[in-house]
Amino acid sequence: MRLAKTRRDFLRASAIMGTGLALSSCVGKSPSTMQQANSPTGDANKFGGEVTATEDLMREHGVLRRALLVYTVAATKLRGNPSALPPDALQKTAKLFKAFGEDYHEKKLEEAYIFPAVMKAGGAAASYPDILVVQHNRGREITDYILALTEGPKLGAVNAGQLASALESFVMMYRNHAAREDTIIFPAWKQTMTGEQLDEMNDKFEDIEHEQFGEDGFEAAVNQISAIEGSLGMSDIAQFTAPSPPKTLETVPG
Ligand SMILES: [Fe+2]
Ligand SMILES: [Fe+2]
Repeated sequence: MRLAKTRRDFLRASAIMGTGLALSSCVGKSPSTMQQANSPTGDANKFGGEVTATEDLMREHGVLRRALLVYTVAATKLRGNPSALPPDALQKTAKLFKAFGEDYHEKKLEEAYIFPAVMKAGGAAASYPDILVVQHNRGREITDYILALTEGPKLGAVNAGQLASALESFVMMYRNHAAREDTIIFPAWKQTMTGEQLDEMNDKFEDIEHEQFGEDGFEAAVNQISAIEGSLGMSDIAQFTAPSPPKTLETVPG
């Protein structure tokens, strides 16, 4: 944390000093050369730039949404032919959801920083955190249930229907939950900070991610969910392209 902040402060200072130097030496140079000379160094000069705290939260939701898609496919299989579903795929998905979603994204970021700030700010968004925490806790109960039922090599037929219902209700809850956070909570949280404070939160979230997972927490989570999707035949996105809609009466010839 201290290292990252120090490095970034140094880069900012270098960029400001660099502007003065570049201005005094750009006479007679082409606009593109001037642009290069004025470019700050570090993250801002890297392809893709810096990941902001709100972008970080939303791309974490992307990983969790892919886990929800796995749950949806699993629930369908459980209702049709439970023996066609390897419990291992559900076990791995629930473990990923617990480590990346519940213990990190929800507990270390939302419950520690975002919800308190949104509640303190007041307004319409402040009415959400209480129920969002209830949903986090209910999600944890369901995740533990999924983990318990998928420990063995086979799913019992008795449990299949109940497990499918638990997965479906979890998916419905979390789709609503993450969509409200993306459109109401995160924008409201962003409004509580100046640009400089948001920049500090970018650093803080990056540090928490590194503490929790090492250097590549997000990338590792994406790789894990990709592998789970592969094991269930979900890798090829083309299979999810919707068919053309039926022709309407107006466009049917004759
Ligand atoms: Fe949440
Ligand atoms: Fe969230």
